[in-house]
Amino acid sequence: MTAISTLTIRRPDDWHVHLRDGAVMAGVLAHTARQFARAIVMPNLSPPVSTVDAARAYRARIMAALPAGMDFTPLMTCYLTDGIDPEELARGKAEGVFTAAKLYPAHATTGSAHGVTDVKNIYPALERMQEVGLPLLVHGEVTDHEVDIFDREAVFIERTMMQLVRDFPALKVVFEHITTKDAAEFVSAQGANVAATITPQHLHINRNAMFVGGIRPHMYCLPVAKREFHRLALRQVAVSGSPKFFLGTDSAPHAVGAKEAACGCAGIFNAPFALESYTQVFDEEGALDKFEGFASLHGPAFYGLPVNEGTVTLERGGELVPDQIDANGMPIVPFHAGETLGWRFKK
Ligand code: NCD
Ligand code: ZN
Repeated sequence: MTAISTLTIRRPDDWHVHLRDGAVMAGVLAHTARQFARAIVMPNLSPPVSTVDAARAYRARIMAALPAGMDFTPLMTCYLTDGIDPEELARGKAEGVFTAAKLYPAHATTGSAHGVTDVKNIYPALERMQEVGLPLLVHGEVTDHEVDIFDREAVFIERTMMQLVRDFPALKVVFEHITTKDAAEFVSAQGANVAATITPQHLHINRNAMFVGGIRPHMYCLPVAKREFHRLALRQVAVSGSPKFFLGTDSAPHAVGAKEAACGCAGIFNAPFALESYTQVFDEEGALDKFEGFASLHGPAFYGLPVNEGTVTLERGGELVPDQIDANGMPIVPFHAGETLGWRFKK
């Protein structure tokens, strides 16, 4: 059998991205819009996007920064706080502003200081979300420092996720950026209302990547990459064809200086070559026929949105990823910096 040399799929979407704001947003946005028709935009700005008005204004800033001729729709999310008003969520959904709401356990990750201190605090909000059909997106890590950082996702399943899906059996829940076999198995065992996104980095690297010959801050994100067997489990579900698993890059740009520091930020900037990166994984797994489902079909089906019109075509061939990318004056080191990827966009 000869390996295919081009792959055409329906235009994909990114179901989890950090676009930031201001000049940096203007610098990173085109990378996402080049590849994806829509993206679920994370609300962890400072201050967080927790109201309909704030999300509407943020959406307008994104649209204003979009280069002319690019076709891209940002799907906005609400940052859940302990004091979130359930009616604000219902109104945001009714007015077509909120596509989902995001649960950050307080202090779990970058920009989560205003997050939820106890899931019980947002039970009225979750009740309302279940009623109106607004999906819950979960950063699934416990914040308890007694728990080993590599176990925080698995422990979150036991301490929070299991009960949450029991208490809200009709709530749509996305377990975001899963990193463990435990999460892959948990999601697989649930009903169709529970799904997961998977990032390119968690399909490519295991935790050793952070320590190759020294400390590698550009391989650090949260949830942190885990052991090799976890990576293999993620690959297995990603290419399985199961509609529960879909593309979400978690592209999280930080300036080089904020990463290469005594206390470097968590986040991997994978937006510039995300699709090429994922395609390589599906190719390596002999599962290119499953890529369209993961990238372009499962997400819309879960969210109840139409699939995109139009297609994108990738071709086999070297794509050299630059060492740095300038985001409107802010230098950022992209995922795969200095590597040559085996697939590129066909011009
Ligand atoms: C994200 C960021 O920088 O905003 N960082 C990350 O490592 N993924 C926050 C997040 O999604 O956890
Ligand atoms: Zn994220």
